[in-house]
Amino acid sequence: MALVRVALGARSYDILIEQGALDRAGTILAPYARKGRLVVVTDANVAKAQLPRLDASLRAADIAVEPIILPPGEQTKSWRHLEQLLDALLALEIERGDHIVALGGGVIGDLVGFAASILKRGCHFIQVPTTLLAQVDSSVGGKTAINAKAGKNLIGSFYQPALVLIDPSTLDSLPLRETRAGYAEVVKYGLIDDPAFFAWCDANAAALLAGDPDARTYAIERSVQAKAAIVADDERETSGRRALLNLGHTFGHALEADTGFSDTLLHGEGVAAGMALAFRYSARLGLCPADEADRVTAHLQAVGLPHDLASAHVQADGAELVGHMLHDKKMAAGTLPFLLARGIGQTFLSKDVVLDDVATFLDTDRA
Ligand code: NAD
Ligand code: GLY
Repeated sequence: MALVRVALGARSYDILIEQGALDRAGTILAPYARKGRLVVVTDANVAKAQLPRLDASLRAADIAVEPIILPPGEQTKSWRHLEQLLDALLALEIERGDHIVALGGGVIGDLVGFAASILKRGCHFIQVPTTLLAQVDSSVGGKTAINAKAGKNLIGSFYQPALVLIDPSTLDSLPLRETRAGYAEVVKYGLIDDPAFFAWCDANAAALLAGDPDARTYAIERSVQAKAAIVADDERETSGRRALLNLGHTFGHALEADTGFSDTLLHGEGVAAGMALAFRYSARLGLCPADEADRVTAHLQAVGLPHDLASAHVQADGAELVGHMLHDKKMAAGTLPFLLARGIGQTFLSKDVVLDDVATFLDTDRA
């Protein structure tokens, strides 16, 4: 079993990664099962595909499982489902010493984390992520949230889990499109500051997406090591280091907004196209060698991810997309910080980007 520590003083925790870990969860989670029970929150898809494994393993260790099953999908990160979840947890007489288990993708992890942060002024929670996106990104680092009418992830907290337990074999039941979308967040770590990992991704993405257990486990381990180091350095995104994790997200958010945050473009797909755009825009500004930007585009295209406006199914022109960017929650004092790159593995935060120029670039890039 690989172990990665997130070093945050009193809020430190371990990330455990092991193929088949779900079938050993009874042993691993026993110390967290106060009074011999664990409440497990999941969604209906994961309940069908993975809950039976967790349930069997916990029961074999004499741990009673209280499941709470929510509908799948982004709309579950809402006030309505938060209230429903909190009421269900209170009905189960959850106490502050209890641990709530979040079994699922980023939707379940973000919602359960937020619920745990406010229930009885803070209960413990454990992340058991079952999508690649959640295994390499959202389950680590303590960002929790629900969505508001005004936008995504606008209501939430920083609240760290007590443990993250990752079993790469849970991805066996995940649709390939979701795995591919999560892969965008894997290759992101290479593009940010690790060219050797980008080269590994270039050579191994096909095996990873085909379900090779070693490739999956290695990619997850490298990704959470990178994220744990960044979170330990800048837990609340104040120094600018954690902001590097938003590579591709400003362009991506505009593309997601244009496609209505729908199944037309999954979050990871928007990030993929956003990263390609960020590299090509950096090349246009003369910051990044054009051949490096081309390598990024070619890699994303080769794995079947969107890499431009057309493949992201975006109809809007540059001005409309920049209009979406103006509502980005990173907008501060009329400036939108942008992640640009001097090359693969050389991402940096720029506050000098002129949005009119971005609009022109987007129109040129489409042509
Ligand atoms: P998701 O949780 O909606 O899961 C995607 C789909 O896969 C769902 O239909 C789900 O039911 C299904 N699923 C999950 N695991 C499965 C499995 N093993 N087998 C079969 N089906 C399975 O989506 P996601 O991509 O995991 O997460 C997206 C969310 O994560 C967004 O709300 C985003 O805002 C959030 N996010 C948060 C952070 C953070 O740092 N907190 C970072 C990135 C993204
Ligand atoms: N996914 C971005 C972050 O955790 O900061």
